[in-house]
Amino acid sequence: MSSTLTIRTPDDWHLHLRDGEMLQAVVGHTARQFARAIVMPNLKPPVTTVEQARAYRERITAALTASQGPDAAAAFTPLMTAYLTETIEPAELERGFSEGVFSAAKLYPAGATTNSDAGVRDLAHISAVLACMERIGMPLLIHGEVTDPAVDIFDREAVFIERQLIPLLQRHPALKVVLEHITTADAAQFVAEGPANLAATITPHHLHINRNALFQGGLRPDFYCLPIAKRERHRLALRAAATSGSTKFFLGTDSAPHPRGAKESACGCAGIYNAPFAIESYAQVFEEEGVLDRLENFASVHGPNFYGLPLNNGTIQLERSSDSDFIPGLMELENGSSSPTTLVPFHAGETLNWRLKQAQWRASAA
Ligand code: DOR
Ligand code: ZN
Repeated sequence: MSSTLTIRTPDDWHLHLRDGEMLQAVVGHTARQFARAIVMPNLKPPVTTVEQARAYRERITAALTASQGPDAAAAFTPLMTAYLTETIEPAELERGFSEGVFSAAKLYPAGATTNSDAGVRDLAHISAVLACMERIGMPLLIHGEVTDPAVDIFDREAVFIERQLIPLLQRHPALKVVLEHITTADAAQFVAEGPANLAATITPHHLHINRNALFQGGLRPDFYCLPIAKRERHRLALRAAATSGSTKFFLGTDSAPHPRGAKESACGCAGIYNAPFAIESYAQVFEEEGVLDRLENFASVHGPNFYGLPLNNGTIQLERSSDSDFIPGLMELENGSSSPTTLVPFHAGETLNWRLKQAQWRASAA
């Protein structure tokens, strides 16, 4: 059995980096393994203008410089997204896209998840925006869940496909769409059988856990995320899709840090912090499925090809873990203030087969 694994440097096509102290605490974990990341715009207030996105991009680079140094900042490119509201102007999106500030726009159905209140209540209200995106080739990234409280939380993705996504694709047949963080067999099949302009990201956590994880031995808020993990048959369908070799599926961690106290509380926030061991987490899945040779395409090739971006030139190396390489139960992260940020990483307390071999910031590899 080989003890090292070298792949083209991957990208994360779905990431929450937050802002301020949290940003400074977490950004290094992503940059050590990924050359680029699609940064989600669900800040408070949301990122809705070109100027806000530009300023946020600068804060990300500054936080990476402060926490890891200039070589790290030079080796990592944040790809910014616009948060679609019902009042956003098509001209603002078009300007941001043509100036290379917006790589895509994110659709949050209002109320679907963290900081989505400013999102879209009715897709009919943004039809001019969608027509503009379709015309200019700007990808639409979708949080695919209905918000109708009458729909069971475990059915919200499948119902979204029927009620919203199918009509949307009929109205905008050339629109590039990424159905983000898919969690169901229904979504995997819909994307696999759909047109070439429809793709999906898959998170590491939805490949590892099913809904039982939320209740194993008690209530487990660190496994709570949205869309919520589903039944085992759905997890198996996601694993089959991710490892199938289909170009329609690619890596998107949806790493979503919340301070420990905000998760482990009476009304805990949705989000799993998987950035610290993300590529290792995916590698484990591909190895378990017997197709480690397909990891590179999923992690480093299908995403850039869909977005129309060049592949990264560098490589990262993973090496086999030893039995004592436990993932820490808690991470106390420096953030530029006097008290650290405490986060529980995904896989806390477990061992994984592979560990990222560090990289002098992939500087030589850029
Ligand atoms: O679990 C989630 N957390 N799902 C989302 O859609 C948003 C994210 C967050 O921002 O915390
Ligand atoms: Zn997300």
